[in-house]
Amino acid sequence: MQTNKNFKRTLITAALPYANGGVHIGHLAGVYVPADIYARYLRLRGRETLFVCGSDEHGVPITIRARREGITPQDVVDRYHKEIKESFAEFGISFDIYSRTTSDEHRRTATEFFRKLYEKGEFTEQESEQYYDPEAQTFLADRYITGECPHCHNEGAYGDQCEKCGKDLSPTELINPRSTISGATPELRRTKHWYLPLDKAQPWLEKWITEEHADWRPNVFGQCKSWFDMGLQPRAVTRDLDWGIPVPVEGAEGKVMYVWFDAPIGYISNTRELLPDTWDTTWWKNPDTRLVHFIGKDNIVFHCIVFPAMLKAEGSYILPDNVPSNEFLNLEDDKISTSRNWAVWLSEYLRELPGKQDVLRYVLTANAPETKDNNFTWKDFQARNNNELVAVYGNFVNRALVLTHKYFDGKVPAPAALSDEDRRTIEEFKDVKMQVENLLERFRFRDAQKEAMNLARIGNKYLADSEPWKLIKTDPTRVRTILYIALQLVANLSVAFEPFLPFSSKKLRNIIGLPSADWERLGSTDLLPAEHQLGTPELLFEKIEDSVVEAQVQKLLAAKAANEAAARKAEPQKKDVAFDEWEKLDIRVGTVLECERVPKADKLLRFLIDDGQQKRTIVSGIAQHYAPEALVGKQVCFLANLPARKLRGIESQGMILSAEDFRTGALRVITPADSVSAGSAVK
Ligand code: MF3
Ligand code: ZN
Repeated sequence: MQTNKNFKRTLITAALPYANGGVHIGHLAGVYVPADIYARYLRLRGRETLFVCGSDEHGVPITIRARREGITPQDVVDRYHKEIKESFAEFGISFDIYSRTTSDEHRRTATEFFRKLYEKGEFTEQESEQYYDPEAQTFLADRYITGECPHCHNEGAYGDQCEKCGKDLSPTELINPRSTISGATPELRRTKHWYLPLDKAQPWLEKWITEEHADWRPNVFGQCKSWFDMGLQPRAVTRDLDWGIPVPVEGAEGKVMYVWFDAPIGYISNTRELLPDTWDTTWWKNPDTRLVHFIGKDNIVFHCIVFPAMLKAEGSYILPDNVPSNEFLNLEDDKISTSRNWAVWLSEYLRELPGKQDVLRYVLTANAPETKDNNFTWKDFQARNNNELVAVYGNFVNRALVLTHKYFDGKVPAPAALSDEDRRTIEEFKDVKMQVENLLERFRFRDAQKEAMNLARIGNKYLADSEPWKLIKTDPTRVRTILYIALQLVANLSVAFEPFLPFSSKKLRNIIGLPSADWERLGSTDLLPAEHQLGTPELLFEKIEDSVVEAQVQKLLAAKAANEAAARKAEPQKKDVAFDEWEKLDIRVGTVLECERVPKADKLLRFLIDDGQQKRTIVSGIAQHYAPEALVGKQVCFLANLPARKLRGIESQGMILSAEDFRTGALRVITPADSVSAGSAVK
């Protein structure tokens, strides 16, 4: 569709996730679920398909995490590569290979690639001044430098960005820059880097995209256009860093390839790892192969401009035919954020909602951010499960199966003559194959899934209108026909949903005894022959209760509260106070003899204190922070010379001192670290 060529096979890639953390629903919705639907669909159609992915294991953030946790970058990527790979497998993402960019194959392939461009003279070399940490004796990546933001004067801005005001920065703009490695003041030193001259590639890139690929999604095409309008600039492809693939040329000691140079080559290396003999001849260097990159919108420039420029410069590779990129998925009306822990992590979802992978796949596709940013809410998740998967799909399948068991011992009844209504129903779903195909070929996954769901809607309506449960007494022959047609719809559902909900489709086929999903026969009315024995009905989907989604919302709110608390700061210091003013305060230690709640005052506790001379009553507003009995026997500090005042009719003779935690608001009484005689002064 909309390709100007008859390709023989399709090579699908999904963006390589950074092995610097787990994967969340944003990743799944934006890249991996649509890519998987597409791969499954092509395979079902019998088209030669390869689906390649892996972990992106280089880049500065991985080294920062390693340093923070006191482990090596390799430890970090080993941990997350494993976790990510498992999550994808659990969600049925059907990669032909999921490898990694720390593999030997990748290092070899990326090294060959770099050398070839170098030898062909495709790079330019440039010297520039960069910050260097004289103590740690290393050049500093932008992220490793902090200082004061020149715009908002936030003290903790980074060399590439101020997170407070959101402005992009370059490290030399920072006021009082410091190295985050040693704390030293960095100094500028000259260093040499290799650049990919995208400015020189702009003419062909622009022609290639605007003339041959005006069919790309508007968001993708539009972003490319705006890059062209700004004018492409040479891009550095090397870095002064000790984590990455060494730059394989002379005079590049201590330098590695920029992560965005080596990562997309990972698509090639991973193919090569899987198919050492045909990775090039059949796939990457074969013009009959259609290359399709699934990515998120922050990756557009790299896949539509930079990587094609690299491939073209190398000279022997195919270029992408399409780059279906999604917009972003928000979570409960807020941007998904790893650092704020505002995310639904796949590993946690799998633990907390076991067996519900298809539900998430369904909801993420139904809400896919295909043309604009979209929002995931737990309420919508519950509603789509309960009102669509359970009430429409599951309900229809269950009714058809249960009735067949009840009336015909679970054997598909042979149909008799068709009524007008039967014909109309059959007419309604016979085009489902064509419609789902048309939509999927154009990467319109939400609409395609809706089309598949339509089979269940048709089925429900058909049963509701024809009412076989009433006819069974008067016209059993008619019921045979109705259930025959309903069961064909059930079988069609198990095929149509195969790309979208692979687990449920398989389960359904097992129940009805359909050996495989034969896509070519989708839409037909003879998927299950008469007299075919069905298995025992089982529920495909189950209702999700309020408590389940409420617990998830609570978890997010707790993360938000924790973040807000962490962001709070201690109050600034007050104005100086004269020493003789301070001396006027008579602060003493007393021992708590009694402590109890003040009736009808939910904040107040009444204390009876041994102050060394007598027993003294003090009322204090800490009832929400302590159980009164927990304080009896404790020593507390109190201000003794505060004039007495009445609180709820009780005369309070002083004030108990507590610290207020500025993060949590909790009040904690001040107690001497070791016990002292009651009445001792605090100085
Ligand atoms: N790791 C990148 C990200 O998550 C994507 C890399 S895609 C590749 O944004 F093409 F470079 F591999
Ligand atoms: Zn700022």
